[in-house]
Order: sequence, then C-alpha cells, then structure tokens
Amino acid sequence: MKHWKFFRTLILIFLPSIILVMNGCQQRDVISGNDFFIDLTTGNVTDRNGMYQTSVPDYANLYLTGGEVYVFGIIVFKGIDQQFYALSQYHTDGCTVAYQVGYDELVCPCDQYHFDKYGQETFGNGSSYLTVYATSYSNNLLHVYTP
Ligand code: FES
Repeated sequence: MKHWKFFRTLILIFLPSIILVMNGCQQRDVISGNDFFIDLTTGNVTDRNGMYQTSVPDYANLYLTGGEVYVFGIIVFKGIDQQFYALSQYHTDGCTVAYQVGYDELVCPCDQYHFDKYGQETFGNGSSYLTVYATSYSNNLLHVYTP
C-alpha cells in the first residue's frame, strides 16, 4: 500500500511536467486543410467551395504596404514589392512572427530571429524556418494555398 501511494505521488508530480515539456516546442499552426480565400472587400474567409469559414476584422491592413493579418495560424501580409505573402504564423516556441517593412523580413519577438519572405532564417542560429504558402490575387479575393 505504501508503494502505491509513493507511485501515485510520483505520477501526480511528474505527469504534468512531462506533458508541459512535450507540448512546449510543438508547432502550433492550426492551418486549414483547405485552401482559403480572403475577400478584401469584406474580410470574409471562405474555402474553395465558397463556404464561409471565418472573418478577418482587420482585413483592411492588407491594403497597406507592410499590412498583415493572421488567419488559421498563417501570417498574410503585403510586402514592400506590393505582393502578398503567406507564411506560418508561429515560430518554434509558439511565438507569433510579424512582418517588418524596415527589414522587409519577418521577425520573431521571442529571440529576435529574422526570416526572409521565403521562410529562410536570415538572423538566428540557422535551425528553423517558416513554412511558406503560395498566394494569388484576383477579383478582390486573396487565395492562400495550403497543403
Ligand atoms: S522562438 Fe522565435 S526567436 Fe526564439
């Protein structure tokens, strides 16, 4: 009986720690299984069948050079070349990256790693990257292609 209490105590102490450690560095992207479309006149996000998925209240950011929105774990922004880009929103520790016009790069606020618009690290320890998603724009619809 003493052994059972000892093991139960061990489990109660260590199990939450093990779960925390296992989840700490997981990719937290929640990328839709389907391509999605952002309507730049309404902010509505639809799937390839035109079905409503969600809305992006700050969609007007995408009118501006350097403007960005976050949807389904993806940062979508307008680069200084006036092209739209889409990359994974989260870096390794779950930190949300942001596009910085001054660098024309994405910057992770946690340890200040930088990434180019193609997801490659330009400043950091060379161990990470951001997933890139193709985009196209036509008739006020910004198409983000997901796997
Ligand atoms: S988690 Fe992004 S730089 Fe460290």
